[in-house]
Amino acid sequence: MSNKSIRAIDAVQEAEKIAFAPFVFQAVVALRKLGIFELIFKYRKKSGISLENISKELQLSVYGVGVLLEIAESYNILNKDEKDCFELTKTGYYLAFDRTVDVNINFTQDVCYKGLFHLTEAIETGKPAGLKELGDWETIYQGLSVLPKNIQKAWFEFDHHYSDDVFQEALEFVFSNNPKTVYDVGANTGKFAISGSKYSDSVSIKMIDLPGQLQIALKNVELAGFKDRVTHHKIDWLSENPELPFGADTIWMSQFLDCFSEDEILVILKACAKALTDSGEVLIMETFTDRQRFDNAKFILEATSLYFTVMANGNSKMYPSTVLMKLIDQAGLKLIEDRPIGEYHTIFACKKK
Ligand SMILES: C[S@@+](CC[C@H](N)C(=O)[O-])C[C@H]1O[C@@H](n2cnc3c(N)ncnc32)[C@H](O)[C@@H]1O
Repeated sequence: MSNKSIRAIDAVQEAEKIAFAPFVFQAVVALRKLGIFELIFKYRKKSGISLENISKELQLSVYGVGVLLEIAESYNILNKDEKDCFELTKTGYYLAFDRTVDVNINFTQDVCYKGLFHLTEAIETGKPAGLKELGDWETIYQGLSVLPKNIQKAWFEFDHHYSDDVFQEALEFVFSNNPKTVYDVGANTGKFAISGSKYSDSVSIKMIDLPGQLQIALKNVELAGFKDRVTHHKIDWLSENPELPFGADTIWMSQFLDCFSEDEILVILKACAKALTDSGEVLIMETFTDRQRFDNAKFILEATSLYFTVMANGNSKMYPSTVLMKLIDQAGLKLIEDRPIGEYHTIFACKKK
């Protein structure tokens, strides 16, 4: 979007908003954590609440609440009326109560905030330079199962939020050909393996992931009562010549390939092609940057790419569909169906050439 016609005074204000964006972000985190948004919302039908009353009700200093309210008002998060009472603006309401915004704020704060400081270094080195703020691993996936609980919760909620809503529709697609053996590559907590086992009582699902994740996934599968039909295979796709056991009717990869560079994706897709039965198919579900109807969704994906750069692995991103199409072809697969799922996702169904 061009902003050539913007007035200098507006442009400088936009620039200052960016210069102080971390201040505003942390103020919002505090307004949420301290219960200030919720209290203001509670008073919406009583024409708002004053600074002094917020301070009294929450037992916080007038000074402390005051500095937060001030910047939130300037940023159009709160409105102050002529009686100096505060109400949430629409933006304030979303910051306080929208589930997607909630998941994104927690992910930014708990998983990424400290690490983002090292973004320049990550670009220079091609390494996730911010990851040292969480632990000493090559990629975040090696540390996922042992992250501190609040960080792990924010990571899993972010991950699941963007796949949970489409799982049902995706399951109908995955099982439309009645596969007997499904590999879930990037099985994570076992959510797909559990839903798939509930969906079809004859399928056998093999969860494929790093050992740490599989430990968590296997526990969840056992608790759900599907231990007999769900097997597993440990793999590190970044090791030398990773291979899958032969015999998959369907290989399912949801929000998985974006965790890898283009070269690494090619290795994974070639290994998948080798593991497929002759009539088998690889199903890739992704949120592609070039398939989003809303600018906002594209913006979230672009921010997610920076998470990959600085925290996750230093070399992957959310891709446009064209990149995946090219790699599918190079891996000896052909795209046989290109299916939108839900508002943001696409499934690519591929067979061996
Ligand atoms: C973003 S999660 C996707 C989870 C799930 N499929 C979903 O749709 O919600 C990526 C998964 O890939 C796995 N993964 C990342 N790097 C890996 C590697 N080098 N080898 C094996 N699995 C890996 C992670 O452990 C994680 O479970």
